[in-house]
Amino acid sequence: MKPMTLSILFFCILSYLPFGFTGKKTAQYERFIAQHHHTFPGWCSKEKALAMMELIDKLEPLTCVEIGVFGGASLLPTAYALELNHKGIVFAVDPWNNDECVKYITPQSPDYSWWKQVNLKEVYSKFASKAKSLNLLHRCLILKETTTIAFSRIGTIDLLHIDGNHDEQSVINDVSLFFPKVRKSGYIWINAVKRQSTEKGYQELFKNCKIIQSVDNGNCLLLQKL
Ligand SMILES: C[S@@+](CC[C@H](N)C(=O)[O-])C[C@H]1O[C@@H](n2cnc3c(N)ncnc32)[C@H](O)[C@@H]1O
Repeated sequence: MKPMTLSILFFCILSYLPFGFTGKKTAQYERFIAQHHHTFPGWCSKEKALAMMELIDKLEPLTCVEIGVFGGASLLPTAYALELNHKGIVFAVDPWNNDECVKYITPQSPDYSWWKQVNLKEVYSKFASKAKSLNLLHRCLILKETTTIAFSRIGTIDLLHIDGNHDEQSVINDVSLFFPKVRKSGYIWINAVKRQSTEKGYQELFKNCKIIQSVDNGNCLLLQKL
């Protein structure tokens, strides 16, 4: 082969490589979702889990925070994507406590009895044993406490996922405590966007962020801090 042909071939291989790497990770993410996602209790859709993992690949964040972990449906895909990056940790903030889940809602609320009764001790132990069996515990910093307590332990955040209680007061609290910790140009996933109860809390974010991506038919948005 002529040297010129060889160098063109070499150039083609080099320029293909980044796509090759991205494709390889996407395939790994999809395999992880196919094998494990149905075993994680929670509400994170496959579409959202994949979008979260692709973002982690692109950003290479060092400090991620998830508010509201439940059984790890969104936390474990986050930890897996960090593991594939070989860097970064995710703070898993959740008290796994029934009284905390109903603190700002009345017994008349349709969600009250479910959150008052769900066995959060069992949900937590399933999450912790999954994190261990998938070898992801070293990517997770589990803070088994409320956002009000956990926030003082956390510094600057690259990527924040707000998915705690969705009542008005909880969203206002979580946004006001954690949004100031997100670095400029950092990213924030928000959930239950179509629920009226989240409107007031997210107002502050919409004023200070731009919308980057929408998943779950607009019920979950990715924002970037201006
Ligand atoms: C909507 S679920 C989280 C869903 C999870 N991210 C998923 O994708 O499946 C809300 C979680 O918020 C937690 N939570 C309740 N009060 C909290 C508080 N004060 N601080 C942090 N998390 C809280 C609940 O225990 C519950 O696990």
